[in-house]
Amino acid sequence: MALKFPKVLLFFFFFFFFFSTIAAGSYEDPTRRTMEEFSGYPFHSSHPIFSLSPVNLESLQKQFDELANFSDTPAPSVTRILFTENDVLARGYIKELMGKASLSVREDAVGNIFGRWTGSDPELGAVATGSHIDAIPYSGKYDGVVGVLGAIEAINVLKRSGFQPKRSLEVILFTSEEPTRFGISCLGSRLLAGSEALVNGIKESVDGQNTSFFDAAKSAGYVVSEENLSTVILEKGSYFAFLELHIEQGPLLEEEGVSIGIVTAIAAPASIKVEFEGNGGHAGAVLMPERNDAGLAAAELALAVEKHVLETGSMDSVGTVGIIVLHPGAINSIPSKSHIEIDTRDIDEKRRDGIVEKIHQSSIDIAKRRGVKLSEFRIVNQDPPAKCDHSIINAMEVAVRRLNLSHKMMISRAYHDSLFMARVSPMGMIFIPCYKGYSHKPEEYASIEDIANGVNVLALTLAQLSLE
Ligand code: GLV
Ligand code: MN
Ligand code: MN
Repeated sequence: MALKFPKVLLFFFFFFFFFSTIAAGSYEDPTRRTMEEFSGYPFHSSHPIFSLSPVNLESLQKQFDELANFSDTPAPSVTRILFTENDVLARGYIKELMGKASLSVREDAVGNIFGRWTGSDPELGAVATGSHIDAIPYSGKYDGVVGVLGAIEAINVLKRSGFQPKRSLEVILFTSEEPTRFGISCLGSRLLAGSEALVNGIKESVDGQNTSFFDAAKSAGYVVSEENLSTVILEKGSYFAFLELHIEQGPLLEEEGVSIGIVTAIAAPASIKVEFEGNGGHAGAVLMPERNDAGLAAAELALAVEKHVLETGSMDSVGTVGIIVLHPGAINSIPSKSHIEIDTRDIDEKRRDGIVEKIHQSSIDIAKRRGVKLSEFRIVNQDPPAKCDHSIINAMEVAVRRLNLSHKMMISRAYHDSLFMARVSPMGMIFIPCYKGYSHKPEEYASIEDIANGVNVLALTLAQLSLE
């Protein structure tokens, strides 16, 4: 017994000495930067002011140009549709960049791609950032891409600056933010956020060529089935914070000469599919009073959408009919079938819901009046808006001030993967200006200097959050 006590004591001292040496070792690591140095908080003014290593403008611009080559339509337009050959090549390009940045890369069953820089405390929730690289037909090369290439460059900037994260940092490439192929927007992030309705929706999804989502994914090298779809859903607390860098897709920042937009909320989107069916017939032989023209029903509904949106009297209400398909599609045949896809959004969810309801009522009325059948009225999605997190907004403001950049608070009228990531993590978005606010068309453009400003704000904010 007399001998036992000192042994225990020795044991205790050994462990105390061992762990304090490790702690001291990591603290004194000269390559390790602290949050104080990064954030530039005044109460840490005794620390030397840290400056970020510069963004590599040349190589970043080259990446935008190279990625834009993976397109189904000629430059300057970009068309990159989910799971097509060019989408697969572009994914490969991003995975390579993630590898070059020494990120450990993994993919989930639907092709969301994650590149992780493991922090010194890997048990803590990670800080994630990312966006998408799919592009709607005949669009540009910056929508989404700024948030993916910019995120990888932000990681490279931090690495070149000698930063060591405490929370892991992760870059995410989300599958199919655009609804082009399967009519489902933000497919990857919706699933990550745990949408059970989507799990069921995907099972029934086919594209315009009648290819199922599962078959399309398989052709791109992904093994996805009814069984493993729900493995994509994120566990609660997976992320401490999520950030997305994106072009504004509106004209305000450029018009006002402001470098950075800090997003406070994302507007509520809804999309609807409608089908009318009539008798069709010969364009010459069927007299006007005898017709029940499904094409005219579609045309009338398109005008009704515009009317209902304008009726709200708010500039925040918008509505678009981007797709009308007529069957059989011959100049001398009365359309026997029409298919209409409607997109409507508003910052005010209730007002947006009111518009959806009026569009439904108009569809019923038009069908009745024109003697056609309303064979489908399907609300594909009717999402609530999302609010950005206050502490992330604060972190971004600190970063913007630290970088001496002008900024303004703003709403995002476009939707983003952030809308869904906000369901599972505190979320924030950084906007940069784009030429005349153009987006979803080939003229879309953001200067490399504006992109670099966004990358710097992202890098500082990631650094700050990773040490919290
Ligand atoms: C995103 O692409 C949107 O349509 O808002
Ligand atoms: Mn887009
Ligand atoms: Mn986008």
